[in-house]
Amino acid sequence: MTDAPPTSLDDDPSIGRVLLSEEQLVNRIAELGRQLTQDYAGRAPLLVCVLRGAYVFLTDLARSIDLPVEIDFIAVSSYGATTRTSGVVRLVKDLEVDLTDRDVILVEDIVDTGLTLRYLRRSLEARGPASLEVCALLARESADLEGLGVRYVGFTIPGDFVIGYGLDVGERYRNLRYLAVYEPPDDA
Ligand code: IMP
Repeated sequence: MTDAPPTSLDDDPSIGRVLLSEEQLVNRIAELGRQLTQDYAGRAPLLVCVLRGAYVFLTDLARSIDLPVEIDFIAVSSYGATTRTSGVVRLVKDLEVDLTDRDVILVEDIVDTGLTLRYLRRSLEARGPASLEVCALLARESADLEGLGVRYVGFTIPGDFVIGYGLDVGERYRNLRYLAVYEPPDDA
């Protein structure tokens, strides 16, 4: 990740197979928005976006929900600049809104081992929300969604490391409009 970046994303050999197209993402997020609009009818949920990976998902999801939602951001770190989790979750930025008696929806990019989610759930539940649900764009097939209490999931995907639509490697590729498999050439 130290070499100069390719001048165009089109020329970047590390962007592998497209796993989810822009259209698939748009359609599924619209569905999730409709479902949340129904489930939270008459309420004003607080969307808690887990930075940084979920920021693109959050902007599309929030605009698909026809309710007076509020938004806040929390940031955790477990990956550093690599594709492997360090196994330790660190709070990097806390919320500004008080969660007491709020209907909170935690908006995550991907549930992989579930380590991040377990940490966040513990931290947020301790603040006395009226309810706490999780809405993840992606979940690994291997993730124990029931055990982790994840109610809303956009797509279940296999184990490949993925980039785009907010997800990064070393802060790159978040601006891809689709989700692709990360395939660094010298990783073969
Ligand atoms: P977990 O704690 O193992 O569930 O990992 C969750 C976090 O790891 C996500 O919020 C992402 O930031 C990051 N992550 C896991 N898999 C990927 C991936 O394939 N691409 C990009 N980030 C990932």
